[in-house]
Amino acid sequence: RPSGASQEMPHMGEDDIAAKVKDICQELVLNHEAIKEVCSCLQEEINRGLGKDSNPEATIKCFPTYVRELPNGKENGRFLALDLGGTNFRVLLIELGAKCTMDSRIYAVPQPIMVGPGDGLFDHIAECLASFIKERDLGTELLPLGFTFSFPCKQEGLTKARLACWTKGFKCPGVEGRDVVELLKQAIARRGDVRIKICAVLNDTTGTLMSCAWKNHNCRIGLIVGTGTNACYMEKLEKVELWDGSTDEPPQVIINTEWGAFGDNGCLDFVRTEYDNTIDRESINPGRQLYEKMISGMYMGEIARQVLVRLVSDGLLFGGYASDILLEKGSFFTKYISEIESDKPDDFNNCRAILEELGFNDATDADCANVRHVCECVSRRAASLAAAGVAVLLNRINEESVTVAVDGSVYRFHPHFHNLMVEQISHLIKPGIKFDLMLSEDGSGRGAALVAAVASRSASMR
Ligand code: GLC
Repeated sequence: RPSGASQEMPHMGEDDIAAKVKDICQELVLNHEAIKEVCSCLQEEINRGLGKDSNPEATIKCFPTYVRELPNGKENGRFLALDLGGTNFRVLLIELGAKCTMDSRIYAVPQPIMVGPGDGLFDHIAECLASFIKERDLGTELLPLGFTFSFPCKQEGLTKARLACWTKGFKCPGVEGRDVVELLKQAIARRGDVRIKICAVLNDTTGTLMSCAWKNHNCRIGLIVGTGTNACYMEKLEKVELWDGSTDEPPQVIINTEWGAFGDNGCLDFVRTEYDNTIDRESINPGRQLYEKMISGMYMGEIARQVLVRLVSDGLLFGGYASDILLEKGSFFTKYISEIESDKPDDFNNCRAILEELGFNDATDADCANVRHVCECVSRRAASLAAAGVAVLLNRINEESVTVAVDGSVYRFHPHFHNLMVEQISHLIKPGIKFDLMLSEDGSGRGAALVAAVASRSASMR
């Protein structure tokens, strides 16, 4: 069947079509009132997460991380880090000193391992670690290791983290409820050829915050907008009813909010659309991580694809003919959104190349403009929702000037995400608060080393 866009749309000119497209996309546009409503629900859920009695029912779990000190810039030493939780798994060797140098290697996590038995996953991690160490001849040195494990964990100490539930496409049976540090140690013991000392387990948001705080002393928030989304922030101990650790100085602890689960009690339903429902229904974890599913890279492309398919079936795009590729779930990658929005206002070079990849060889300028509009609506909504979360944290911290450390592929590669967020946050924070969003280099690696370093510093001071 035809795959092109050459068919005439009867009775409708390009302007009429563009207007209809805008109309259909309108439900993806959040006005100020809606965003403020999102802020107040989020604020409420964080309070519930921190409260001892309300926590079991809260969607935003606000897990204390046991990281209570920020780096002072003088940390040093050699560290290993493991980074699991995005699209890849990495092993890193980091040298902290006046500068920070690192050597790293990326290993794939094959899909069957992502959803296969837990032992298989940890054996794979241990195997990559062993081969990394062998390649570098680190043989006899007992290296401290920081484990960045970017999933919701209930921590019971700096080196003890029980997985609450898998997110982002992982689903290995036998891990939920277990301490992932123990599972890693067991896998290493099964091999018997690696000597390491696990000094810390942390979330990528914590790593991102630490990595930025190393040089920037105003940093209080770590944010990820990548495959998933989440944020952590430094909270006063008196606000953390859940806290069961020591009450020594400093009276603060980093809270891993796990805000991706916001909305899982229905409180975001007033902004969710049919596309969000479909994505959730077809996901590996239905009913969970609903805020994350509206914001992060694992889902944004698919939201856009759903809208595009709808527009085609309404006869508003490509002459009403979809390509087989466009009809395939997952075929519209999130990176396409960044690329399409990177085109200059008056050309559609990336857009056209992407449409060709999707099997549309003769898309019109009008088609391209409509596709771009869909992408803009999806990414703007994501940026606004993430901004709502950051604004809530800034208002909570309520300091005059706060730096937010940010990482993740969406934030990094989308051409307007940073500006969209900054603009939206400024409309939502209390007057007098100043903030900036700073790209944090390699939180999961350097951040892990810093947590390990700060941990050993605190231990030796006590
Ligand atoms: C998911 C994980 C969370 C992580 C985030 C960003 O939301 O549950 O732990 O921080 O993705 O990677």
